[in-house]
Amino acid sequence: MEFAGAGNITATAALQRFPGNLLPRHRIFAVHSADPAKKRSQSVDMKSESSNWAPESWKSRKALQIPVYPNKEELDSVLQTLESFPPLIFAGEARKLEERLADAAVGKAFLLQGGDCAESFKEFNANNIRDTFRVLLQMGVVLTFGGQMPIFKVGRMAGQFAKPRSDPFETKDGVKLPSYQGDNINSDVFDEKSRMPDPHRLIRAYTQSASTLNLLRAFATGGYADLQRVTQWNLDFIQHSEQGDRYMELAQRVDETLGFMMAAGLTSEHPKMTTTEFWTSHECLHLPYEQALTREDSTSGLYFDCSAHMLWVGERTRQLDGAHVEFLRGVANPVGIKVSDKMDPLELVKLCEILNPHNKPGRLTIITRMGADNMRVKLPHLIRAVRQAGLIVTWVSDPMHGNTIKAPCGLKTRSFDAIRSELRAFFDVHEQEGSYPGGVHLEMTGQNVTECVGGSRTVTLDDLSSRYHTHCDPRLNASQSLELAFAIAERLRRKRIRSRKDLGNRK
Ligand code: PEP
Ligand code: CO
Repeated sequence: MEFAGAGNITATAALQRFPGNLLPRHRIFAVHSADPAKKRSQSVDMKSESSNWAPESWKSRKALQIPVYPNKEELDSVLQTLESFPPLIFAGEARKLEERLADAAVGKAFLLQGGDCAESFKEFNANNIRDTFRVLLQMGVVLTFGGQMPIFKVGRMAGQFAKPRSDPFETKDGVKLPSYQGDNINSDVFDEKSRMPDPHRLIRAYTQSASTLNLLRAFATGGYADLQRVTQWNLDFIQHSEQGDRYMELAQRVDETLGFMMAAGLTSEHPKMTTTEFWTSHECLHLPYEQALTREDSTSGLYFDCSAHMLWVGERTRQLDGAHVEFLRGVANPVGIKVSDKMDPLELVKLCEILNPHNKPGRLTIITRMGADNMRVKLPHLIRAVRQAGLIVTWVSDPMHGNTIKAPCGLKTRSFDAIRSELRAFFDVHEQEGSYPGGVHLEMTGQNVTECVGGSRTVTLDDLSSRYHTHCDPRLNASQSLELAFAIAERLRRKRIRSRKDLGNRK
């Protein structure tokens, strides 16, 4: 990978590109793309479209959920440091993910996106990263077997820190303080000093993201994800449980199939067998941080937000004329849009047109999160509006955020049954509308936590406080994640069998 200083833009070119006060204060370093020639003409189109865009043009729009720092000079100095740091991802990787997402948009692949609601400084260690990665690998095997189609994995990892809050303040025993906004901004400890936004936390978030990504890349390509190890991925605490046994049974079948293939002379050395693709994603919320990590791809001239491969705009910050949409329209990464039942079909179409004016497949993923009942009523209208406008999007279900409830003990939780029902509704509606269910987006961990209730190894309301470690929303534990993967796999299997039958009937 090469990061050419040659991408430094000349003063005249810069002035042409950044008219008036939009000229960035700091040099934008170039990031070479993997396959420049292929995308050149499209990038020229996109560039002319975004000619009135600059990495900091979002500042002219209303920016919700951005922390107010007590010392602006300190923040500026941190941002300047971040601008000088290397990018975490490079353009070619993000483009490859866009290709996978384009396949998912037409039913040729399926996205498995998952990880913490909020990564934290305290829970940062190799075991946590490995266990979440491992359960994603296991889920990937289960889904590949059921769907018999490529399953591609994207972590809510290596950068998922900033949290949008419904209430900017939290009151406890008569004391009112700013809400916790994520470890990259303030601390969840309830005192005045801890809740004050501290810009140095952004540097810590960057370094934690870099080393998380480093370990993920090592696991993905260094032998850990080798399919011949499929039986070894079972996590200790789910062994000898219903989901652990189900997984082992399937893993042994995969293992036997590999044995058969090798005996038949098919190679086990192919990278597809020994490595896995893995991408990162997070909510694009803290715009000063995202801007500081935005780099120009010197070969295509496009800007990429190099803090993650994929970014999404949250339900609370997706206003058509808002700062987050303005920022995201100008970066070439694949972009997700979180959508609740409040979304109006025509507004969704407008948002898609702003974020993807050239209707590029894979560029836009619509992540619906509205609860099962709303889904059955609202999703058909969203699908029809998008179809009528001729837009290509990848439909993904986040069955977590429409199902958060407060337990009697005061902790936030979600019921496994509600999550499963929302997924069932998602698949039913797409079946009814003849559109493609392109993937799932989950808040989950490889740890044996008790945050969501239900599942075959039942977590009860009384169990919640025993291992409740999340820094924000409740996550599925490893056993619940696997159980959900088996349920989705069954749905994918049924879909596959049905479409084969349909094909047979047409012949
Ligand atoms: C999230 O994904 O953690 C989140 C806050 O989602 P949403 O914007 O859908 O509420
Ligand atoms: Co969440």
